[in-house]
Amino acid sequence: MAVTGADTGNRPRVVVTRRIFPDLAQQLRRDYEVLDNQDDANWTTEELLARLSAADALLTDPVRQIDAQVLARCPRLCVISNIAVGFNNIDVAACTRAGIVATNTPDVLTEATADHAWALLLAAARRVVEADRWTRAGRWERFAYDAFLGADVCGATLGILGMGRIGQAIARRAQGFSMRVIYHNRHALPAQAVPGAAPEQARWVERPQLLRDADFLVLLVPYSAATHHLIGTAELAQMKPGSVLINIARGGIVDDAALAQALRAGCPAAAGLDVMENEPHIHPALLALDNVVLTPHIGSATATARRAMVRLAIENLADVLQGRRPRALVNGEVWASRRCAAPAAG
Ligand code: DGY
Repeated sequence: MAVTGADTGNRPRVVVTRRIFPDLAQQLRRDYEVLDNQDDANWTTEELLARLSAADALLTDPVRQIDAQVLARCPRLCVISNIAVGFNNIDVAACTRAGIVATNTPDVLTEATADHAWALLLAAARRVVEADRWTRAGRWERFAYDAFLGADVCGATLGILGMGRIGQAIARRAQGFSMRVIYHNRHALPAQAVPGAAPEQARWVERPQLLRDADFLVLLVPYSAATHHLIGTAELAQMKPGSVLINIARGGIVDDAALAQALRAGCPAAAGLDVMENEPHIHPALLALDNVVLTPHIGSATATARRAMVRLAIENLADVLQGRRPRALVNGEVWASRRCAAPAAG
């Protein structure tokens, strides 16, 4: 396939898999030969490779899978800069074997993502989307005491599975709702690592107890083979009656078919999902349910956060191409033996 769009000079070549903000795309073009995707087309693997096989750097989105087969066909590639904090789309071990540096965008999206987790939590608890659809359908005829009864948030127990930076930001917000916070990580965090929370306000518990005791369970674990379907039929059956499940992490952590079945049976009572298995193709059984709020992977979607993510990803990429250790290096072990230890031509 003939690919156009790159200059013929010897500036480093950068491929961008998704449309980014035009001014930031322009900034990138000042320094590099850029093969971008401002049309936001869904490139096949071959269409990606037609651009990437002669590239020095890749600026990619979290849905694009970069596996060992792709890497094997990219002999010049020095750096894969993911515009996301999650990097399960990249085969990091294969990058390290090939000497390719992988980077991500932590921190800059923490608060925006925590806000969105709360938006889903409140919307699911108080049936906001369902009530909005009903109201717009012209079905509101009178005030009713028993209309759209939802779950109490204030004073409830918030459970967090995966208490990292975003989990801690969500936990901080829970104080405003006088909530008790429980969490499960592989290891309990030191009390001072859970900001503003005294140990009795954010308590480490075993996973079964988290499932059993949480009124609101927020999933924040990274996706991997080990967390695939971490929440399936058996785990959903352990959740508290009336509870609400929120997935703001990655599709595939929840078995969506099992979740649809559990929601239909009423436990959990509701769910809020920003990520789904096989997105953007949502399980049809979920689409048929009123007690699930769905958003299209927009956890970090504020202009501030998304622009900061793109900026940080560009900065990471530039650092690697210029021989500097990037701020957000995923595979630190590759640094000493990276493929492009000398600055790429520029
Ligand atoms: C991430 O950063 O991993 C999100 O899923 C995209 O905002």
